[in-house]
Parts: sequence; structure tokens; C-alpha cells
Amino acid sequence: MWGGRFASGPSAIMREINASIPFDKALWRQDIAASKAHVDMLAVQGIVSHEDAAQIAEGLDSVASEYELNGVPENWDLEDIHMTTESRLAELIGPVAGRLHTARSRNDQVATDFRLWVRDAMDQAELGLKQLQIALVTRAGEHADSIMPGFTHLQTAQPVTLGHHLMAYYEMAGRDRSRFADARVRMNRSPLGAAALAGTGFPIDRERTAKALGFDGPTDNSLDSVSDRDFALDYLMAAAQCSLHLSRLAEEFIIWASQPFGFVTLPDSLSTGSSIMPQKKNPDAAELVRGHSGRIVGCLTALMITMKGLPLAYSKDMQDDKPPVFEAASLLALSIAAMTGMVAEAKFRTERMRAAAELGYATATDLADWLVRQANIPFREAHHITGSAVKLAESRGVALDQLPLEDLQAIDARIDDRVYAALSVDASVASRASHGGTAPNEVRKRVAEARVALGLEESA
Ligand code: ARG
Repeated sequence: MWGGRFASGPSAIMREINASIPFDKALWRQDIAASKAHVDMLAVQGIVSHEDAAQIAEGLDSVASEYELNGVPENWDLEDIHMTTESRLAELIGPVAGRLHTARSRNDQVATDFRLWVRDAMDQAELGLKQLQIALVTRAGEHADSIMPGFTHLQTAQPVTLGHHLMAYYEMAGRDRSRFADARVRMNRSPLGAAALAGTGFPIDRERTAKALGFDGPTDNSLDSVSDRDFALDYLMAAAQCSLHLSRLAEEFIIWASQPFGFVTLPDSLSTGSSIMPQKKNPDAAELVRGHSGRIVGCLTALMITMKGLPLAYSKDMQDDKPPVFEAASLLALSIAAMTGMVAEAKFRTERMRAAAELGYATATDLADWLVRQANIPFREAHHITGSAVKLAESRGVALDQLPLEDLQAIDARIDDRVYAALSVDASVASRASHGGTAPNEVRKRVAEARVALGLEESA
């Protein structure tokens, strides 16, 4: 394709290091679509004849059918998907194929193809996250009343409901969705027509190709158009942050499924056994989601470092933009699907959760709050009195509400028997009815709003 000025061909090393076809063949659909939009525009603008353009478009369809049927052939001499397609087109329709590359360069071509690919990946991530949210609200609705220990420092802190806990991940998934959606709006401009770096002298219509490819319009600076990979970085940043959330959810399931916790029985379909220990049921899918987040963050780092310090405009370093994006996208899709299945199908052992919430003095704050409200004691002092009660209960190995009234009154005479109503885990969660709190009624409100937002229900 560029042999004109060369006396000898590339060495084997050059051919190998140069070839991106092993991975950028994933762009074939986008490459064909962009070429068809381009050649149609060339014809409308009178830059190539309508007959030639029709022949080229038909030829591109044939190449697409071949790819669909047999995959994209990998010939290093043809470097990348753009040259592979053009060369096959020439084999099929002859020298007229050479008119397709008028008024464009591989630089704007690859920028366009890759944007189209990343745009789809953003849409897919958003769709997958919506499914995860649906699973979360469904289970949260079932468990708005199921009491479990809430933790800080992974130490029992205050009782919460499982529904509330699951809805926390609904919020994270919602922010992830909005990050992909924001990124999509920002990136949806067409670089096609920026040509090599400076634009073109042909009377092209960039609005037309942009529209044909579903972009909101053309990009406004040709140098930026061919050297911008912000859209890929935006995608990877959203993916990385999303993967952090997924890894946290995965970690919860791993902890909950451990025998000392026993809060959840993982679905068989997302667990594995051990070849030596017959009793084992391992949370491998969750562990891999946890692990994949490391790789996804690595993909983001890889592309950031690739782009760092590159002068305008295109440099071949940028060919390395694709593998990390492709890798992150497939890891992310798998991770979202695995966690969706886990949430949807896990069997929550609510009796174990409740028993754990009743241990660990999870209602100590409720005792302190009761002292503030009923006995008008300053919170700091109430905190101290409660500490003494916890110490006593701990020394006897009993729960707070199992301490006899005389013993509580010996700690502070202002305590009376109404206190017991505040010490149950049910009273504790029911009392936390502030907006966004764990009270079952609050959780039900949030679930109802979420179901409307997800289109699962008509708004009331
Ligand atoms: N395969 C190349 C890439 O992915 C296409 C652009 C090549 N441009 C060039 N000037 N050599 O970046």
C-alpha cells in the first residue's frame, strides 16, 4: 500500500511489530460501516462517480459477508483491519477499490472505527449495569425487613437490613451507568474527514458521514481528531471505577459465604468444587470478579501511560490503544454478568444474619440514643454509660437486652424498663427512618422509586 518510495520490504521483525491485525480485526464491522458512509458521501459530493461508489459499497458488503462467515484473515503484510479490507476489496472489484481511500487516511479511519467500537462498549456496559440494578432492587425488595449486622472496620456496628445493604450497590451501579452515559455524550463526534492530520482539499461533507454513523456531528479540529483517545480513556475510567464497585460486592459475597459468617449460600451455577476437599464450594466467580478489577485498572493505566507525552498528531504508539480497551471490555462484561447472576440467585440465610446482628452489641448506640432522648443526658455521657453496660454484658456473655433492669440501674439510675423496647434489633432498624436510613419503610420507599426509575413499574 505504501511501497512506492521503498527499495526493500520490511524485515520479519518489522512486519511482526507493526501488525495490529491480530487484535484490530475486532473492528471489522465498524471499519466497513465507516467506509460505506465515506464512499456514499464521496459520491454525493461528486468526488467519485455514483457507479464507482455503488461498486465499492457492494464490494464492501461482500467483504463483510466473508468476514461474517469465515472470520477476518490475519496477514501481517496487510498490517491492520483497514488495509486487510481494502486489499480484499481490490481483489473482488479491481482497481476501482483504490478510489475508496480518497480524502481520508488510516488515521481518521482508525479514530472513527475505534470510537464506534467504544461507543457500543459504553452502551453494553450501561445495559449490563441496568440488569444488575434490576437484580439488586428485586432482592432488596424481598429483604427490606431482613436484619443483618452493619459493619464499620468489618466490626459489628449497628443493625441494618439486607435490603438496605443491597440498595447501596444499586446506588453505585447507578453512578457507573451515568459515567458511561456522560462519556458517550462527550465522545459522540465524528473524526472522519480529518484525514491524516490536516484535513483534506477535497470538498467532503463531514456532517453527512457523521450523521450516517450516528454521531452528533463532526469534530472541530483535525489534529485533535486523529490524536484524541480521551473517549477510550473515559471508557476505561468508567470501567475501572465500575470494576472497583463490582470487586467490593464480590468481596461481600466471599465473606458472607465463608463458614464463620454463613450469611449466604452461593448458587451452584457460579461456584466450583475442590479436587481434594469434597466439602468445598468455592466462590471462584466472585474471586475472579475481585481479581479482574485489578486487570481492568491495569488496562486504564496502560493506555494512560501510552498517551502520556505524545506530541500531535498521530503516533504509532496509539496503535496500542486497542488491546487494553478490548481486554477491559470483555472482563467488565463478564464481571457484571457474574455479579448479576450471583445477586439474583444467591440464597440469603437471613436467620444467620439476624443471629449475628443480635451478637456484638449492635444496639449499643440505641441505648445511648435512648438515654439522650428519655433521660435528657448529653450524648457523650450517654456513650460512656452505654460503654459500661456493654462491658458488663460482655463479662457475662449475654446480649444487652438480657441484662436485668437492676444491673442497668446500678450503672445509671435514670434507666427504666422502657429501655428494652429500644434494645431489640427490630426497634433499632425501625428507628433509623431518616432519609436514606435503614428502616424497612425507608428501604421500601427507595426500592419503589428504583423500580420506577428502572421502568419495572409505572410511577405512582
Ligand atoms: N493500525 C493503525 C492503528 O491502529 C492504523 C493507523 C495507521 N496510521 C499510520 N499512519 N500508520 O493505529
